[in-house]
Amino acid sequence: MTSTQSNRESNRDRLAQLDTFLSNTRSLWQPQPFKQVRPAWCDLYPQLTEALLTLDDEPLQFYSDNPESFLPWLVEQLPELTPLLGWHELPVKQTSAIELPGNRFFDGMGGRKRSQIEAFTCHSGQIEHSVVEWCGGKGHLGRLLGHSWQKPVTTLEWDGALCEAGCVAAEKAGIDQVFHVTDVLQPDLPVALTHQHAVALHACGELHRTLVRHSIEQTAVALDIVPCCYGLGCDDIYQPFTEGLSLQLQKDDMRLAVTETVTAGQREVVQRNKEMAWKLGYIELRKQQTGEAGYRNIKPIRKAWLQQSFREFCQQLAQREELMLTDDADWDRFEQLGWQRQDEVMRLLLLRHSFRRPLELWLVLDMVCALEAAGYQVEYGTFCERQMTPRNIMISARR
Ligand SMILES: C[S@@+](CC[C@H](N)C(=O)[O-])C[C@H]1O[C@@H](n2cnc3c(N)ncnc32)[C@H](O)[C@@H]1O
Repeated sequence: MTSTQSNRESNRDRLAQLDTFLSNTRSLWQPQPFKQVRPAWCDLYPQLTEALLTLDDEPLQFYSDNPESFLPWLVEQLPELTPLLGWHELPVKQTSAIELPGNRFFDGMGGRKRSQIEAFTCHSGQIEHSVVEWCGGKGHLGRLLGHSWQKPVTTLEWDGALCEAGCVAAEKAGIDQVFHVTDVLQPDLPVALTHQHAVALHACGELHRTLVRHSIEQTAVALDIVPCCYGLGCDDIYQPFTEGLSLQLQKDDMRLAVTETVTAGQREVVQRNKEMAWKLGYIELRKQQTGEAGYRNIKPIRKAWLQQSFREFCQQLAQREELMLTDDADWDRFEQLGWQRQDEVMRLLLLRHSFRRPLELWLVLDMVCALEAAGYQVEYGTFCERQMTPRNIMISARR
């Protein structure tokens, strides 16, 4: 058996095992504590539920920020989840020694974006062909790859203003880079991927999946992608590339794979907590006023509503839902109830969030196996720390 074959089988085996594990544990990660006061697993595991609900604020904060540190705690409570530890271990992509240009090259680029494209460039391996950059924004990544490997770059991006800014930056840096204002989801693309090296950094959901499909169909010689926002553009039920999998992921499950806020600032976290608490308070109020017990979706809210009082917040939401709220509602009580629910939701979520990485890995392995089945040699692994971006898995495929 060649090493490529054994790699292929080990990735297929890994995907099959993960598929079984996630299917068998679905009742633990699929229910959303925001929508269900007590998911069914709370009855099955009362001790775990109690231990979670009584966690102090400090460990809660720590475990929420460092999900991997939570795993030993969880496995102690529920030893059958021991395999979770393994599903959080990802290979680290090898680096190439690349001399990166100085600060002037990165003028106008945010610090985090710069670190990401530098890390991408150092981990993608040798580039021997012209590059096609998929959903490239201002083409920062393409510009750096063009500079580092002295290859022409074609950047595809549908926002004309970003393309124009990218053109200016490429000219200034003396890079052979052209931009096409194009919708990459449309069938007729201005370039074919045949004989090209395709790259994509954080092309969301259907955008990166389309690139994988095109690369296979048009036999791109190489592909380096860092996927993100897996749920974007996905059908109600995700259609895997690989046949024979039993897990059926719904849109909400796909979102779970990317709900980490590790790069959020303190203000964003405070705002997110308040939004969650107020929405939960409103849900309880709505239940009381309408007698409806079930969960009804709340559309995204305008952030300005959070600057008002809780009462005005509820009135705005109710108006949008064409619901009449009585004036004498006990606003303080419902706001307090909202905060209490938020407190509980954050604790119960620790369990659901422990499955985020394995779910992401399942989605990544699905693409890895499809590329391998199409004859590529594929490597995947993390290319930077989570603090730089939680979407830190890179897939590299070579013909
Ligand atoms: C998350 S950004 C990533 C940009 C760039 N790769 C980077 O990392 O800086 C996604 C980019 O995809 C572009 N985009 C979204 N949908 C697209 C489509 N259908 N066709 C082409 N570009 C698209 C957006 O305008 C945006 O620039």
